Amino acid sequence: MARLRIFAALASAIVLVASMARAQTEDHPYTTEQILAGATLYGGNCQNCHANSGDGIGAVNLAHQQFKRAVSDDDIRATIHSGVPGAGMPAFPNLKDEELWSLVAYIRSGSTKAARRSSWATR
Ligand code: HEC
Repeated sequence: MARLRIFAALASAIVLVASMARAQTEDHPYTTEQILAGATLYGGNCQNCHANSGDGIGAVNLAHQQFKRAVSDDDIRATIHSGVPGAGMPAFPNLKDEELWSLVAYIRSGSTKAARRSSWATR
C-alpha cells in the first residue's frame, strides 16, 4: 500500500513537471481582436518591407512561420521590439506591449487561415 502511495506521488510529480515544461513552450492563446489589431499594425509598420503576403524578406516568411532565429512567441515579440541590428530589421521601441502581442498574434494566425487567402494583410 505504501509503495502504491509512493508510486502515485511520483506519477503526479512527473505529470506536474511535464505540464510545467509544456507551459513554457506552449504558444500563447490569442483573441480575434488581437489578430485584427495586429493586421492593422502590420499594414502600417511592417508591410512595406515584409509584403502583404509576409514573404517580402529573403528567408523570412511571416505567414508560414519561417524565421531565421525566432522560435517562440516571445522571440518574435523581442525581435519586433528590439529589431535585428545590422540586418535591416528596425526596432519598434514605441509599440506598446499589447501592440507587440497583437503583431505576434497576427503573425501566428498566418499559419492557419490567413496564409491561404491571397491577400495576407488587410491593407
Ligand atoms: C525596413 C524594413 C523592415 C520593416 C519595416 C520591418 N522589418 Fe521585420 N525584418 C526585416 C529584415 C531585413 C529582416 C531579416 C533580418 C535578418 O536577416 O536577420 C526582418 C526579420 C523579421 C522577423 C524574423 C526574425 C527572425 O528570427 O528571423 C520578424 C518576426 C519580423 N521581421 C517582424 C516584423 C514586424 C512585425 C514588423 C512591423 C512591426 C517588421 N518586421 C518591420 C525588415 C523589416
